[in-house]
Amino acid sequence: MSFKTLDDIGDLNGKTVLVREDLNVPMADGKVTDDTRLRATVATLSELADKGAKVLVLAHFGRPKGQPSEEFSLKKIAEPLAHVVGRPVSYIDWEGDKAAVAALAPGSIAILENTRFFGGEEKNDPAVVERFASLGDIYVNDAFSAAHRAHASTEGLAKVLPAYAGRAMEAELKALQKALGEPERPVAAVVGGAKVSTKLDVLKHLVTKVDHLIIGGGMANTFLAARGVNVGKSLCEHDLTGTAEEILDNADKAGCTVHLPYDVVVSKEFATNPPSLRTCNVHEVAADEMILDVGPAAVEALADALKTCRTLVWNGPMGAFETEPFDAATVALAKTAAALTKEGSLVSVAGGGDTVAALNHAGVAADFSYVSTAGGAFLEWMEGKELPGVAALEA
Ligand code: 3PG
Repeated sequence: MSFKTLDDIGDLNGKTVLVREDLNVPMADGKVTDDTRLRATVATLSELADKGAKVLVLAHFGRPKGQPSEEFSLKKIAEPLAHVVGRPVSYIDWEGDKAAVAALAPGSIAILENTRFFGGEEKNDPAVVERFASLGDIYVNDAFSAAHRAHASTEGLAKVLPAYAGRAMEAELKALQKALGEPERPVAAVVGGAKVSTKLDVLKHLVTKVDHLIIGGGMANTFLAARGVNVGKSLCEHDLTGTAEEILDNADKAGCTVHLPYDVVVSKEFATNPPSLRTCNVHEVAADEMILDVGPAAVEALADALKTCRTLVWNGPMGAFETEPFDAATVALAKTAAALTKEGSLVSVAGGGDTVAALNHAGVAADFSYVSTAGGAFLEWMEGKELPGVAALEA
């Protein structure tokens, strides 16, 4: 796809730029607990301010459903954002916003209150689009992680103001293009996580796009069950074994090799280092045991498969990685992918909430070619869907 970037904007001096960022950050006790999304805004906000624009950040926070409230106010994010950007960031309430925006000095940054305090934001209501548009001259969308929403601030504005991708959006789109758009082959995808039901469309799409599909996590159990394996007490969506079979058939037809674990780490209870822990062949899982991780022999075979690949897309952990020792497969495979990336033989793109946590746990997030902090948007992209916020930027 082609889209305009900040390089295409002309003179910005004194212009008001509406920048859609994703400030939907996790908070506990009034403090931001993970500032990754705030850090992602720095390049765009600093560049625009340096070019003399009045920078007006638009964002949502939580799901207030059109009801203004303290709980969902973005006021509390102004200070943490200022800290991360390294410049003052003022806060502008929807009441009196026009006068406050008019009073902004060129080169300054302000955040507007939560866009979802307007019911029409999520409905992409033209009146709300107009309301937002009346505050600025130019629109920049820098929030890939909110681009799966066709909302006034993510999609509507791009239709009524000159629209550009911000630096974070640009980097994300370029990385994703490299990973599944026009990838170097062979391409591998790792898809893990607890349930097949949440990633059916991802799996259906990927078997038509990749050469190797590595399935891990609880969802692998449903595929194992579909192949006649007795998975004991493991998390398994038995009602989806038919769908799993269909996916395996489609993979076969498309020439995609599906990798399921052939040895597994099992236990009778789910706890840290449980006494009943053991590793066995998938065909030897006892009725009272559950599969909690991919086994070491399978991990070695998967590492060998990765070594033959040029591109990797990763979403979801291979096992119950938050509880030791069920993090072993995720950590080992992530380290292999990171080492191959560092060597220059693999382009590795990962995304999704749990995935970022898993790669951070393995200590290798920084070694991947690109790690997306998007959750739902990353999944929709992996499903092959067009994201409305991205489509609206199409030049
Ligand atoms: C996210 O946190 O994934 C994005 O900010 C989108 O939030 P939403 O799911 O509430 O639209």
